[in-house]
Amino acid sequence: MKMKLGWLVVTVMVLNLSSPCSAWFGFGNKQKTSKNSILPAQPSIINRAAHGSSIIIPLYGNVYPVGFYNVTLSIGQPPRSYFLDVDTGSDLTWLQCDAPCSHCSETPHPLYKPSNDFVPCKDPLCASLQPSDDYECESPDQCDYQIDYADQYSTLGALVNDVYLLNFTNDVQLKVRMALGCGYDQTFSPSYHPLDGILGIGRGKTSLVSQLNGQGLVQNVVGHCLSSQGGGYVFFGNVYGSFRVSWTPMSSTDSKHYSAGPAELAFGGKKSRSGSLTVLFDTGSSYTYFNSKAYKALISWLKKELHKVPISVAADDQTLPICWRGKKPFQSIREVKRYFKPLALTFSNAGKVKTLFEIPLEGYLILSNMGNVCLGILNGSEVGLGDLNIIGDISMQDKVMVFDNEKHLIGWAPADCTRLPRSRGFGILSY
Ligand SMILES: *[C@@H]1O[C@H](CO)[C@@H](O)[C@H](O)[C@H]1NC(C)=O
Ligand SMILES: *[C@@H]1O[C@H](CO)[C@@H](O)[C@H](O)[C@H]1NC(C)=O
Ligand SMILES: *[C@@H]1O[C@H](CO)[C@@H](O)[C@H](O)[C@H]1NC(C)=O
Repeated sequence: MKMKLGWLVVTVMVLNLSSPCSAWFGFGNKQKTSKNSILPAQPSIINRAAHGSSIIIPLYGNVYPVGFYNVTLSIGQPPRSYFLDVDTGSDLTWLQCDAPCSHCSETPHPLYKPSNDFVPCKDPLCASLQPSDDYECESPDQCDYQIDYADQYSTLGALVNDVYLLNFTNDVQLKVRMALGCGYDQTFSPSYHPLDGILGIGRGKTSLVSQLNGQGLVQNVVGHCLSSQGGGYVFFGNVYGSFRVSWTPMSSTDSKHYSAGPAELAFGGKKSRSGSLTVLFDTGSSYTYFNSKAYKALISWLKKELHKVPISVAADDQTLPICWRGKKPFQSIREVKRYFKPLALTFSNAGKVKTLFEIPLEGYLILSNMGNVCLGILNGSEVGLGDLNIIGDISMQDKVMVFDNEKHLIGWAPADCTRLPRSRGFGILSY
């Protein structure tokens, strides 16, 4: 079964600071480089950027067969290109790193060589990566961290500052000094794929959008548009305003993730018996995961719906846990429109206006390379997600998703994600 469960961070474990791996960073020149965060520091450029500019970066990849979406970022001095997996389920951006590296995977580019511009242990950015506020610093000049992701992937690293080369939509290119992780000891999950690192755009302090906002460069708004034809884009800053976007508040009980709810789940326009769900939006997950109750309700609804139609379970297709075949191989999801109905989540927004998140057939089915259709909603309990419900890439395709960390809102609108928004184009808020 080829699938990838997200980068969603489940726990941050206590560091074993006496492990041999944490010692490597003690060498080298700990002289801090310039404190100027923006180079070159030309006030006119900074001010132009500060007043509502944004960054739009094209995405590569798809849900199936690739299983993820990645961006190219230029980092370092001189700048080098890296391919990063885009993850709204975690905060820290990090690269597999030659510090030297004790466990790194094969990477598309040579390993990142860390700058010697260390983030100190008591820095708020470092604190935000630690399991508790009263963490210990073995070396005050250095920030060690460990991140454990939901799919048995983990990384041990140290935080450094380095220069990101970023293109803003107002045609300004800036070198921005921001923190990133130098990951020198990774454990890989079975679903691992060879990338240089992860682009973390969650809600936390180290998140790239939060750091860009902290320097006054963009509003604390991030989002993406994943195309079902592959590709799309990720954006930083207020690109969409409130134009056409349906909004629901971010969950106040889960301040770590982009989660919302409760929402009612509907199958084919009818309310399901799964109760109300809190859902978490996570680009680090290729597929969608329902908790046990919702998954069970979905399976029994599908069984009923598919009872008398000319498709049958294809047990020999291992693409995903459940696949169906027709009389002859399917060419497109459209061919099963007569058999499957759309799903939807209705967010009640504390009794105010209801917001609908529609999941069309393409949002929960994939066409396997054997010409079968497979269910892209998986049983979260089976992979240890407990009661969590994760809306993965598959269900966010062909929508602009907006995560507004200033207003604490999550929004979406139907969109053709193959077309990058232009800075002066239709639908872009201009300041
Ligand atoms: C990531 O994106 C680049 C394009 O920038 C693409 O060539 C590459 O194949 C993608 N995937 C991986 C695994 O690097
Ligand atoms: C930024 O813009 C330059 C010039 O247009 C382009 O060559 C480069 O690929 C862009 N970089 C990124 C990371 O998008
Ligand atoms: C989902 O997974 C749990 C845990 O493995 C299992 O007990 C349950 O039967 C599964 N649900 C369905 C409908 O397969």
